[in-house]
Amino acid sequence: MLPHSLAQFFHLRPAGPGALLTAATEQVRIDVYFGSQTGTAEEFALTIQKEGKMNGFDVKVIDLQSYDVDTLDSSNSIFVTATYGEGDPTDNAKEFVEWLVHKADPDSLKGMQFAVFGLGNSQYENYNTVGKTIDSHCERLGATRIMELGLGDDDKDIQQDFEEWKEKLWRTLHAHFDVDRVKEKCKTVETEISRKDIREKEHKYKLEVVSERTAMEFPQSSSVHSLDTNPMVNMTVTCNDELNKCTDRSCRHIELALNNSGLVYETGDHVAILPDNDPHDVEELAQRLGVSLSSWIYLVDDDSSSPFPCPCTVQKALCNYVDINGMPKRSFIEHLAMKAIDSNEKRRLETIAGRDDASVYQQYICEGRRNVLDLLREFPSVKLSLHDLLESLPRLQPRFYSISSGSNTHPESAHVTAVVVDDILPEGRRFKGVCTNFLKQTKETTFKLPNDSRTPVIMIGAGTGLAPLRGMCQHLETCSARGDELGHNVLIFGCRSSKQDYIYEDEINRWCQNKTISSLFLAFSRENPQQKVYVQNRVRENSQLLVDLIEKGAYIYVCGSTSMAKEVKRAFVGCFQDTRQMSTVEAEDLVHSLSKGGRYLQDVWS
Ligand SMILES: Cc1cc2nc3c(=O)[nH]c(=O)nc-3n(C[C@H](O)[C@H](O)[C@H](O)COP(=O)(O)OP(=O)(O)OC[C@H]3O[C@@H](n4cnc5c(N)ncnc54)[C@H](O)[C@@H]3O)c2cc1C
Ligand SMILES: Cc1cc2nc3c(=O)[nH]c(=O)nc-3n(C[C@H](O)[C@H](O)[C@H](O)COP(=O)(O)O)c2cc1C
Repeated sequence: MLPHSLAQFFHLRPAGPGALLTAATEQVRIDVYFGSQTGTAEEFALTIQKEGKMNGFDVKVIDLQSYDVDTLDSSNSIFVTATYGEGDPTDNAKEFVEWLVHKADPDSLKGMQFAVFGLGNSQYENYNTVGKTIDSHCERLGATRIMELGLGDDDKDIQQDFEEWKEKLWRTLHAHFDVDRVKEKCKTVETEISRKDIREKEHKYKLEVVSERTAMEFPQSSSVHSLDTNPMVNMTVTCNDELNKCTDRSCRHIELALNNSGLVYETGDHVAILPDNDPHDVEELAQRLGVSLSSWIYLVDDDSSSPFPCPCTVQKALCNYVDINGMPKRSFIEHLAMKAIDSNEKRRLETIAGRDDASVYQQYICEGRRNVLDLLREFPSVKLSLHDLLESLPRLQPRFYSISSGSNTHPESAHVTAVVVDDILPEGRRFKGVCTNFLKQTKETTFKLPNDSRTPVIMIGAGTGLAPLRGMCQHLETCSARGDELGHNVLIFGCRSSKQDYIYEDEINRWCQNKTISSLFLAFSRENPQQKVYVQNRVRENSQLLVDLIEKGAYIYVCGSTSMAKEVKRAFVGCFQDTRQMSTVEAEDLVHSLSKGGRYLQDVWS
């Protein structure tokens, strides 16, 4: 009989050589569907996949949004789904639940074998309604339940609920699909290897640390994580003000410009914000792991799929992809124990992982609010590798905020009112929330029009770089309509051709007619194969006008790709050389001083 904790790792261990043969002939396909809003259910589904593969099952994780009625009835399906609102499904599970409850024909799931784990919070009146609904309706439609419904309670210890259910799941699946022989063979192999080897968690992904040049030669990995398949959009912070009058608590009023994002909202909606991890924590973690933030990594499994987009730098992975501030899971702490050199630290970590006494984990990790960095600080003998860390930590999740503006009053921006989580814990440690501190330090964009509408502006944009410039032109047009005097405004816009991608042409023509724009210069790069024309060429051709305007106090706005912005800056240096007989150094200094003085502004991306 295996001790309890070893049994846990037994399931994590890949099948031995003999077992692999057995598994190869008997691999059972299991589909794990997740319904998740803030990522917990998806993480659980991915954990089942990771462990399932190691147990010899062919496991596929599927976003419930992509369910396929035609394949369900012949499947072995596990549903891992959360409940929201008034007992409602998550956004990605809505259609499926609607189909299951109201549209499916009787017996339409005959042939399906299923198990359900629901995620909920017992503080809510409709506790775990969605898990319960899926469980009962699958049975109603003829499917066979292979394991009783599991319920995770986020008000208590949902990780532990899931771990316990998962242990039972593997036992049930082994018995149900008669893959006991895999277990038997593993047991034989097991006697030949040490306890340490049994506990050693094999890597699912292969990690390569490479030079930037080599990284560029790798194909882009395919990450199936919903954060990568439905990527977030970048938004500009146009206002970031303190609302509280006291100094010990901070509440921020944040305004997010929607004009670049393609997003619209309705009053009462939420916005999900994906923060960066604290850069100081990221730096400390990299140092502790002994890796350089600028190194490039490639983390993929045999199917070239990865837990996040690769190749990327260590900086990107630690800053944007893994959750370094969340509560470490018990299995991760057990892993740290294994990596501890000092025997006292090892024992202490094993106790914290709390397989025997769950209260230690509750007190030390949950109530003590310790994250991975706290543990690495407090247990200096732990030798953790970057590979272990990246594989073990869940994805950094977006945080939800109620939009505090009305969509009819502020259609162009979504406002967020966020209380900054920054507390001193009883023993003196500081706990900082990831997203609220990220929001607090976001800078308002400096890409703003001068206060006086008479100040000339020179706007230069290529492609979608026109977006913020369009906003500026609209703003100036409104100023003019209400009687404000405008300065001499220049728009230099570049795209491929006047017939293909000359966006907002009608509006631009109108601005020229109503004198919002005094001078328009267009650069079409593919209209004349003999001579490609770019915005920087138009800048240089109009040196005299532009330099005159700059000397009258004009502000310059450049928006588009970083390479375009570089060329435009060089063109302005040329303008001063052409018209004012300056040396290159003098002209560069002048452009630099315009930037420093806030009159040469760029909104660029690579
Ligand atoms: C639908 C919805 C709407 C929301 N709307 C808003 C809103 O309008 N405004 C707003 O401010 N928030 C809102 N929230 C909460 C928000 O999503 C974040 O959870 C919150 O801002 C904290 O995020 P964070 O990344 O800064 O903190 P995190 O890094 O996520 O840390 C917060 C976690 O740490 C725990 N914690 C916090 N302080 C301590 C402490 N001293 N000791 C121990 N544990 C601690 C909390 O329980 C929480 O689990 C909303 C949440 C939801 C689900
Ligand atoms: C706004 C909100 C509403 C919720 N409503 C319910 C509910 O009605 N019933 C319930 O059991 N749990 C409810 N929960 C708890 C979630 O289901 C639980 O936290 C779950 O772990 C979230 O999983 P996810 O991260 O995969 O979205 C709610 C949580 C939030 C944040």
